[in-house]
Amino acid sequence: MHDIVKEYYGKELGGTADLKTSACCDASAVPVWLKPLLASIHPDVLSHYYGCGLVCPALLEGCRILDLGCGSGRDVYALAQLVGPNGLVVGVDMTREQLDLAETHRAYHAEKFGYDNVKLLHGYIEKLDELDLQPGSFDVIVSNCVVNLSPDKDAVLRGVHRLLKEGGEFYFSDVYADRRVPDAVRHDPILYGECLGGALYWKDFLRLAYNTGFTDPRLTEDRPLEVTDPVLAPRVGNLKFFSATYRLFKLVDLETACEDYGQAVIYRGTITNHPHRFILDKHHAIEVAKVFPVCGNTWRMLHESRFAAHFDFIGNFDHHYGLFDGCGETIPFDMEQGLSENSGCC
Ligand SMILES: C[S@@+](CC[C@H](N)C(=O)[O-])C[C@H]1O[C@@H](n2cnc3c(N)ncnc32)[C@H](O)[C@@H]1O
Repeated sequence: MHDIVKEYYGKELGGTADLKTSACCDASAVPVWLKPLLASIHPDVLSHYYGCGLVCPALLEGCRILDLGCGSGRDVYALAQLVGPNGLVVGVDMTREQLDLAETHRAYHAEKFGYDNVKLLHGYIEKLDELDLQPGSFDVIVSNCVVNLSPDKDAVLRGVHRLLKEGGEFYFSDVYADRRVPDAVRHDPILYGECLGGALYWKDFLRLAYNTGFTDPRLTEDRPLEVTDPVLAPRVGNLKFFSATYRLFKLVDLETACEDYGQAVIYRGTITNHPHRFILDKHHAIEVAKVFPVCGNTWRMLHESRFAAHFDFIGNFDHHYGLFDGCGETIPFDMEQGLSENSGCC
């Protein structure tokens, strides 16, 4: 599969316009604060962008970031501006042509930004341990429409977990399917190259994340993908695909469910570009200065990560009140006693 993908991104595609589906094509609305950053990126880099989402979480100044499958470097150069001169962005890609394009424009961006904080490495995201990167040395790892292309997603997630600091996060956009992708679709080179054939069934992804130590994956954004190409659409049949962005925190104490300890947080409004609200995920848009009740896991994601200084924290883990309301699960037991005539064994 690696060779098919290298051929596709290195030789077949001449630019974003050559894509045959909307899978590797980012339809997310670009936030106002990000627009000037994208505008300062070299046009050749922009025209070879094949991402499917936005991988610029809040609060990156001074961070060390790793971009898996960085391609021609659009996200690398956007993130380089967000981390600033005291941060570092390392991009990894296996396709020479893509990486060379990113490297060719490194000096251009260094001059434009006034600092050079980018490193580009040729390598495989399944073999991050071969890249001389320190375990536990990254604050954030991102990836944009790449993990689906990997034949060994388990190895990718294990490598990510190893390289993240405790409290760090894997923030990445990718393609998922509503069911397991049948072999005929999986082995179709165009559908694979277009980021559809290798897509994980979403529930299998959640299991994989859990088994790698990312206990509570948080979905931040998603959209359905349409395969409208008249040749490809019949091959896909009833399968449905989605582009989705997840954030996976590396936090050893996260629980498998949202548990209620009576805790709450208050956002201070102090994160650059996010003065009015902080969006943790699709279910947590935390408005400034408002007491916002949270489950134990959300409390930890904010308290034990780079976000801690921007919140006030109410409560602790001393008292447990059962499952947190509204987290999608409920108690399985009947609350009313005695529907059965034979109840009452004593
Ligand atoms: C869909 S493109 C996305 C590129 C880039 N993230 C962007 O948003 O423009 C996929 C990229 O991932 C790279 N890639 C795919 N599988 C890889 C692997 N196993 N190891 C390293 N790079 C990989 C490809 O070479 C290609 O550049």
